[in-house]
Amino acid sequence: MAEVAVFGYGTVGSGVVEVIDNNAELMKQRGADLHVKYVLDIRDFSDDPISSRLVKDVDVIINDPEISVVCETMGGATFAYEYSKKALEKGISVCTSNKELVEAKGAELMEIAKAHGCNYLFEASVGGGIPLIRTINEALTAERIDRIYGILNGTTNYILTKMDENGADFADVLKEAQELGYAEKDPTADVEGHDACRKIAILASLVSGKKVNWTDIETEGITKIDTEDFKYAKELGCSIKLIAMCDFNDGCSAMVSPRLITADSPLNSVKGVFNGVLVHSDMLDDSMYYGRGAGKLATASAVVADAFECVHFAGKEVGRGWSSETLKLCDPGEMKGRFFVRVENTGAEEAAKVLGATEILKHEKETGLVSAEMTGNDFKNKLSGLSGVIKFIRF
Ligand code: NDP
Ligand code: HSE
Repeated sequence: MAEVAVFGYGTVGSGVVEVIDNNAELMKQRGADLHVKYVLDIRDFSDDPISSRLVKDVDVIINDPEISVVCETMGGATFAYEYSKKALEKGISVCTSNKELVEAKGAELMEIAKAHGCNYLFEASVGGGIPLIRTINEALTAERIDRIYGILNGTTNYILTKMDENGADFADVLKEAQELGYAEKDPTADVEGHDACRKIAILASLVSGKKVNWTDIETEGITKIDTEDFKYAKELGCSIKLIAMCDFNDGCSAMVSPRLITADSPLNSVKGVFNGVLVHSDMLDDSMYYGRGAGKLATASAVVADAFECVHFAGKEVGRGWSSETLKLCDPGEMKGRFFVRVENTGAEEAAKVLGATEILKHEKETGLVSAEMTGNDFKNKLSGLSGVIKFIRF
């Protein structure tokens, strides 16, 4: 039997215990017999059956020779880093859902794991329960991936869907997403796009083999999206999604921003907490990955699948990582696209001419325009000379 410790008994950590308790027999038949020996948390759970396995001192776990895997579901990049490092240095594999830590210290922790004959795995850090990291590492191993484009944050997709379908208020839906356990401890990370940005940085690092810093990626969240935007989107037959993307066609470009998604895109119908990711590669062409991007059991399932791998392939290096060398990104302003622009009626005619508008939607006091295709830099130059511009959203 492989003894497992869970660091952090919150939404995901309690899910890890539930998944192992429920499906231990099945996993045993498939080659790994997992049992949760300890749970580490700063909180007390006196009324929870877990209380007999709860410890407060990480060293009790690290110094127990029976422990072979830690599931780190604490979050943050301070204690989680310190404890993960300690575990790996003892040869204990660590499986995590913590994208903040994977993005910041993944390369180092994977190196430490390698040096100590264990693994640092992070399937749940991107796309919640969607098996995307393993797919890139294994199923797409003969592919040259040149583009990843998709919805990588469940909270914001949940908010945008409810705003779109029910005209719901941003703050109310965010509260719901928090109650459902989807949001980050500080939900600014979700709504300002930082969480999706960290996830695309992890994917870009995995594909390129070099570290992509999330702070190098141009990122815009969803806080400025309002009900009027959804009205225009509907007229255009579009939905609005927070899209994270990276493109390797000429160097590496990456960006996170809200975008209008046309009805013919498979991402248009990705709703609620679900994530959807389109991967383009040279042999396979397009493939798409879809599933719950956040939430207790979906995310926990991905953490436990990693724990299974660590036990089943004990002593072997599982998966691939990236080096600590930083990958320099291209100017995101050189990426081409179309732009939806809202402009006061007084400036609409001039804006339509300058931007080569292909669609013009007249509202009472303002006009919505769809620009011709151009680079982001070109667009911003043109926009700076216009008057009455309210906002723009990318296509
Ligand atoms: P929670 O806040 O629900 O759970 C974290 C738990 O760890 C809390 O009980 C927390 O206690 C405890 N904890 C924090 N610091 C320490 C510490 N130093 N020592 C011991 N225990 C500690 O978070 P989630 O389960 O939602 O998320 C965990 C991680 O998984 C995060 O990195 C998150 O980004 C990631 N993730 C979350 C998903 C989700 O759907 N929720 C999906 C995918 C990834 P306290 O509350 O007192 O701080
Ligand atoms: N807050 C994150 C989300 C959790 O909503 O996608 C999953 O990583």
